[in-house]
Amino acid sequence: MMRTLYRSAQAIGRVCPEALKKPLRGEYDSVSNRFLERPLFLAEIALQRLMGHRYLEWYAARLNKDETTGRELAERPVMESGDEDLEALRRLGLEPHHTLYEFGLGFGRSAQHFIAYLDQGHYAGNDITANRVRMFREYLDLRGLADKQPEMHVTRDNSFDWVAGRTFDYIWCGAVLCHMPDEDVAEVLSNIRRIMAPHSIFLMTDTHLVGQDHIVRYTSKDWFRPANWYRETGEACGLVAEDVSDMLSFGKGSHHVATPLGEAGGFKMGTHLIKYTLPENP
Ligand SMILES: C[S@@+](CC[C@H](N)C(=O)[O-])C[C@H]1O[C@@H](n2cnc3c(N)ncnc32)[C@H](O)[C@@H]1O
Repeated sequence: MMRTLYRSAQAIGRVCPEALKKPLRGEYDSVSNRFLERPLFLAEIALQRLMGHRYLEWYAARLNKDETTGRELAERPVMESGDEDLEALRRLGLEPHHTLYEFGLGFGRSAQHFIAYLDQGHYAGNDITANRVRMFREYLDLRGLADKQPEMHVTRDNSFDWVAGRTFDYIWCGAVLCHMPDEDVAEVLSNIRRIMAPHSIFLMTDTHLVGQDHIVRYTSKDWFRPANWYRETGEACGLVAEDVSDMLSFGKGSHHVATPLGEAGGFKMGTHLIKYTLPENP
């Protein structure tokens, strides 16, 4: 039903004059996103919840529809980015002999650079989307990076049970928490200590709306939260949190400060980087 509605809306959109679409689009990237996909997906998520399923199951099922091969992934311009994340980590002290854990590795946009830089066997990560991990494995084979022996888990919750008993020098999480409901973010920020040693540094980067001090759920899967919310929520979960956004390196894959969204241009995106450590005297 969703597909039929979506196709009908697209057909209407094609004949609708731009002068009418522009005000309807407002702060959103399309009229159908604002009035069709967003409300319908929100209804679908609410229904799934009533049936006892978690939001992350809905999200993983949605992303798993992408059956791109490793070879096709190599052609995607997005794979030319991600090195700015390695640069930020290096500015904060990452060296090849360190161990790095990535929460939400996706199809390895940034992981390709982390794995190439780190010593063999020093990278581990997870993602809830099996197809993304599969396509990244194929990509790594093509790029000759498989012999770096990265460890990658396909997961179904935020427990970190799959790496229980191990800690990492650095933990990276880029553009992942913005795709999770508040309670799931708090779950990650509480459980992350399970893989942290006293010296571990957990870095998370995400986008926010410049000048907005409240949370905006932009689409069914995109939450814009102020940097302070991530700092305060981390502290409420027992971590020491510091805004280190000045350590960010802006490259092809990053959202430069004040990138406008939608037609109205009122929403502008910025990027923040938060550093979390364990308290000295817990
Ligand atoms: C926008 S992508 C970012 C991927 C990668 N970090 C990057 O910067 O290219 C978001 C990824 O987060 C993953 N994700 C969302 N919720 C997750 C969770 N609870 N645990 C692990 N991965 C998750 C999604 O499957 C998706 O691959």
